[in-house]
Order: sequence, then structure tokens, then C-alpha cells
Amino acid sequence: MDTRNSSDSIGYYTPDRSAEVVNARMGKAINPRLALLMASLVGHLHGFAREVGLTQDEWDVAIEFLTEVGQMSSPQRQEFILLSDTLGLSMLVDAINNHRPAGATETTVFGPFHIECAPVLEMGSNICLDGKGDPCLFEGHVLSIDGSPIADAHIDVWSDNADGYYDVQQPGIQPKWNNRGVFVTGPDGKYSFKGIRPVPYPVPEDGPVGRMLAAIGRDPYRPAHMHFMIRASGFQKLITHTFFSGDPYLKSDTVFGVKKSLVATLEPAGRRGEWRSAFDFILAPIV
Ligand code: BEZ
Ligand code: FE
Repeated sequence: MDTRNSSDSIGYYTPDRSAEVVNARMGKAINPRLALLMASLVGHLHGFAREVGLTQDEWDVAIEFLTEVGQMSSPQRQEFILLSDTLGLSMLVDAINNHRPAGATETTVFGPFHIECAPVLEMGSNICLDGKGDPCLFEGHVLSIDGSPIADAHIDVWSDNADGYYDVQQPGIQPKWNNRGVFVTGPDGKYSFKGIRPVPYPVPEDGPVGRMLAAIGRDPYRPAHMHFMIRASGFQKLITHTFFSGDPYLKSDTVFGVKKSLVATLEPAGRRGEWRSAFDFILAPIV
């Protein structure tokens, strides 16, 4: 529906028709998708203020909060993404945009800690460079929906270290590329690499989003997980994690990223204190 109208026909701003008056100011020759997005956003924002009877003090606090979120955002620290993640919006946008056919591995939140161009490693290599944590072997296959192996799939993996921090959060403390790497499948579609048994960690709490979570009584923790981004020619890119059964935070992930189908096995393996986690990734074709 085109909500645009001549501002003359609506007249002065009135609180009862506030969104309508604002949206009527939009030009006629603008991108129709932008017109729809803006009209809906303005409508919902005005509806929210009206519904809660927003006070001036509350709006001032909100403006201050959003200003701080922006000031804290940089290429190294994306507080706006963290806000979207903790409000469950990132997962909603992911769901709207990632309808995968039955049988394909489900997607989940990307998160702010991926780095492009991680080293491409020999299959089976160890990505843990700081020597901390319980060793864990990750293995499985990259398959198409009919079960056939996918060759030349690029599997980009990243995780926190045993202290619960990504290398990019601790430059100069952790080795560069700690717990990261890219593996390329052969004709059998198999992958395997060594890492550590990931540990749960709190999302960054030292900024406005951390304060927001504390103010509304929310736990900042994410369950332990391994991040995967898998790209293969002819298939949709898969951004996902594996989680591990028995994790105490599976049902309280602060960014709502857990899906039952992504809970992988985690079992003791080999020597004491060593683990193995197996998971097959099923890619959806590009249609
Ligand atoms: C992560 O899993 O790396 C992550 C996701 C969302 C917010 C913060 C961290
Ligand atoms: Fe993570």
C-alpha cells in the first residue's frame, strides 16, 4: 500500500495522526522499497511511543544509549550488531532470509568475531595456537541433500580460546589466528581439524549493551560453540555453529542462536581430557 500523500491534504502535525503526517512528506519519486521500509518504521516507532506513553526522560536516556552504541562501534567492536543480536533481531532477519529445504543444515547468527582470509590449513591440522584448553577433534562431512559428498568446500572455522575470548579481543595476548582456520574438502567431502573443546562465554559486557542486559536481568552468556562458514560452488553459503549437548546455556543463549538440529555430539576420545565432536553439514543448492 502506498502510504504517501500530499502533505497539504493532511495538514499540520497532530499527535493522533503523527505517523501519517510524517510519511506524507516523502517524495513521490523515491525507491518504493525504501518508502515501504520508512513508512512502516515510522508507524511502529510512533505506535511504540504512544502505547507506552514515553516520557521525555525515557526518550533522553534512549538517545544517550543509542549515541553510546554508535560511539563504541568500530571495525574491531560492533556494538550495533551486538544490540541487534541480543534483541533477537539478527536471528529473525536470518530466519526471514534463510529458508533452507528440508534436510539442509540450519543457519544461525554470524556474530562479530569472524575475520576474512584466515590461513588455509592442511586437513587435520590444529587451530589452537595458545596451548590452552582440552583438545578436541572436530570431524564429519560436507554433503549435498541427496547425501553425495561435496568436494572443494571451503570450511572456515573460528572459536573462543579456553579463557572465553576470541583472538581479536586479546591482540598481543593471544597469537594471531588463534583458533581459526580454513579447510578444503577433497572428493570424499570429509573434514577434520583439531581445536579445543569450546567454552561458554559472555558477550562483551563493558559497553551499553552489557549495561542493558544487566538492567533487564538478562544473562550475558552464550553456550559453547564452534563457528562454521561453509562455501562451495553451486551451493548456498552456510553460516552456522555447532553446539554441544549438556551445555548449561543451551536454552538461555543471550543471542538466541541455538537450534536443536545444531547440537553436535561431544564425547571423550583417546587420552584422558581429549574430546571428539562429529557433525555432518548438508548444503542447500543454489536455486
Ligand atoms: C559469537 O558467537 O561470536 C557472538 C555472536 C553474537 C554476539 C556476540 C558474539
Ligand atoms: Fe562465538
